[in-house]
Amino acid sequence: MDAATPVVELKQITKRFPGIVANDSISLKLHKGEILALLGENGAGKSTLMNIVFGLYQPEEGSIEVKGKPVVIDSPNKAIELGIGMVHQHFKLVQPFTVTENIILGMEPKKMGARIDYKTSVAKIKQLSDQYGLKVNPNAKIHDISVGMQQRVEILKTLYRGADILIFDEPTAVLTPQEIGELMVIMKRLVAEGKSIILITHKLKEIMQISDTVTIIRRGKVIDTLKTAETNPNELAEKMVGRSVTFKVDKQASVPKEIVLDVKNLVSKNKEGISVLSGLNLQVRAGEILGIAGVDGNGQSELIEAITGLRKVDSGIIEVRGKDTTNKNPRHVTESGVSHIPEDRHKHGWY
Ligand SMILES: Nc1ncnc2c1ncn2[C@@H]1O[C@H](COP(=O)(O)OP(=O)(O)O)[C@@H](O)[C@H]1O
Ligand SMILES: [Mg+2]
Repeated sequence: MDAATPVVELKQITKRFPGIVANDSISLKLHKGEILALLGENGAGKSTLMNIVFGLYQPEEGSIEVKGKPVVIDSPNKAIELGIGMVHQHFKLVQPFTVTENIILGMEPKKMGARIDYKTSVAKIKQLSDQYGLKVNPNAKIHDISVGMQQRVEILKTLYRGADILIFDEPTAVLTPQEIGELMVIMKRLVAEGKSIILITHKLKEIMQISDTVTIIRRGKVIDTLKTAETNPNELAEKMVGRSVTFKVDKQASVPKEIVLDVKNLVSKNKEGISVLSGLNLQVRAGEILGIAGVDGNGQSELIEAITGLRKVDSGIIEVRGKDTTNKNPRHVTESGVSHIPEDRHKHGWY
């Protein structure tokens, strides 16, 4: 394989679901050391296409070449064998297990009867983590680490299995701005060490910041492939949605009215007795959007849990429209008119 040969080439891939052509004759190329962004609105067909590359779906038409050779990717195991790894939108980690246990889970021992040695695995994970600047503790339990760290465990999992082609499906959706910055650095490090990346996203800023090339898909079709350095967010947005786009929000300044949520002197301690909310006060008025800024782990989740009745507070008062809802159960709080769209809908949501 010479340097010009793509590490992955998709040729006219078509995938249909009942009533919809999710991928309509899609062709694209990923080169070694490249970050290729796959841009498209919700439902454009991005995940379907990458699930085909990872062997989770079979296309009805089209072919795939990996490093210049025609291949049939009929399972994720086959994808892994070909050096393809995928960091899914929703992590597939076992919460009570350690990082190392999760990474070696499901891997076949090399020789019959040979057992995977935990200590050797820890050392290898530590080495990979250092090499790519992931800062993962191999012995930490998944339920004790942040979502950003869990994502890095997923990255390590692909590296541990020898992947040199990495697919990220909407990786920044679950991250705080700081974690997004850190992930960008990690991706740059990965390609600097010879990996190649396909990044699925609909966030234009991230594409401009990190990708080399961007392929735009709309309703299952490739609209264009552009060099990132030669395009701009406006052009990308127009190609993504198929009409001209304005980034200005036409909105009158709101006139907030009466107080609907009043949080007074809220104190809540975690199981170690450490204050996670330390005398917090805030008010929300009718017609108002209140933003809460802060890096993960500074009490935002606990505040929301307290307001929605999922967490007991040690002192302080929460009032909804003048009615005391402090330490009431979630059902009571809901009936008072508070609804909750959780941070991670798939973990805590029920719809
Ligand atoms: N397993 C499936 N069965 C039926 N339809 C599907 C399935 N997966 C995706 N689709 C449909 O295919 C289209 C593309 O979906 P998807 O690839 O998830 O888009 P994206 O990742 O760009 O948001 C959507 O209309 C979606 O509803
Ligand atoms: Mg998707």
